[in-house]
Amino acid sequence: MVRRSSNPFTPTFGSMPYALAGRVELIDDVIGGLANRPGDPNRSTIFIGPRGSGKTVLLRTIAEEASAQGWVCVSVSARKGMLDKLVRSARENARHLIAAPTQSDVTSVQIGPVAIERETHREDDPWWLDLHHLVEKLNEQGIGLLVSIDELDPTCEELIDFIDTYQHLVTEGRDVALLMAGLPSKVSTLLLDESVSFIRRAFQRRLDPISRYEVEEALFTTIVENNKRIDQEALTMAASATQGFAFAIQLVGYYLWRMGYFHDVITVDDAQAAVEHAQSEMLNAIVEPSLRELTQRELEYLEAMALDDGPLATSEVARRMGVSMTNASNLRRRLIDRGLVAEVSYGVVDFVMPVMREYLRR
Ligand SMILES: Nc1ncnc2c1ncn2[C@@H]1O[C@H](COP(=O)(O)OP(=O)(O)OP(=O)(O)O)[C@@H](O)[C@H]1O
Ligand SMILES: [Mg+2]
Repeated sequence: MVRRSSNPFTPTFGSMPYALAGRVELIDDVIGGLANRPGDPNRSTIFIGPRGSGKTVLLRTIAEEASAQGWVCVSVSARKGMLDKLVRSARENARHLIAAPTQSDVTSVQIGPVAIERETHREDDPWWLDLHHLVEKLNEQGIGLLVSIDELDPTCEELIDFIDTYQHLVTEGRDVALLMAGLPSKVSTLLLDESVSFIRRAFQRRLDPISRYEVEEALFTTIVENNKRIDQEALTMAASATQGFAFAIQLVGYYLWRMGYFHDVITVDDAQAAVEHAQSEMLNAIVEPSLRELTQRELEYLEAMALDDGPLATSEVARRMGVSMTNASNLRRRLIDRGLVAEVSYGVVDFVMPVMREYLRR
């Protein structure tokens, strides 16, 4: 009888994959920065990538690693209420580490049921004072605080307030770190905001496509560790089809598992069918919605790019469109901000997402 086991792939936004593909350097740089002294530039990093490139997963992976190394970590998304959540979670996550308070720290004592408020904060303290106290207490014990902020939104006032407070903590030499992640357009707008000019000095790291070798490795590990096997040719075909795009890795993997469900070894035919299913899902979930948001000129830029099989010089795009280099550069900048185009080397552009080129050609 064929053993039925559940699909180990996770084509759902925000889900931690069974096996993480690539991202080693990004993770190592931040973890290395945490091991270094306060002031290491990797301690303030902004991850930038389009929808489905793996920002949330990266933030969570780094926070898990940092926690394992003794950091207190808090994760929030940039939206109303984030400061309250941030301070509450920080307090909660640090509860077991903060030494029992001295007599003067005890803010309330209640008899039967016995409850001693051992918090170091007063209810009417502003949030930033609370955070300062907490960081001070943690740092006294050699423990740092890592804050991750996902879904950066330049219109979020609480985000702007937090960055200001974080700047003070850094200036005071506190053991803190701040990781942020957002879509390219949101990050570029945020960086224009004068009131957070401090954040322009943060390291900006793009979530580039993951190498085919690393994709193969992650697909292989997920399949084999879940008691199935895959033909080498099928594996290569599947990995190439993802074009290193994080969401596509899970989508292709998910269909590989489904197509090969009743076989011990996933075959080339299974992979062929899996890639077709995954591509049509990618179209529905990511490519078509992204293209619908574009202006006619932006679409024409992509159509000019799609005539080629690979990366293309921007001067050639301008020539094909019959527009000046300045006009083409503006369009390119907007498409990069939308997370659809990447400048892969100086003056050379390529698509970020799989299937977009083929779709535009059709
Ligand atoms: N390095 C990785 N290796 C394998 N799968 C990954 C990797 N990173 C993310 N994924 C998978 O890709 C999908 C998208 O990941 P995630 O939700 O982190 O993207 P995101 O960039 O945060 O998207 P959004 O902008 O919509 O929030 C998820 O299914 C996740 O499991
Ligand atoms: Mg996300």
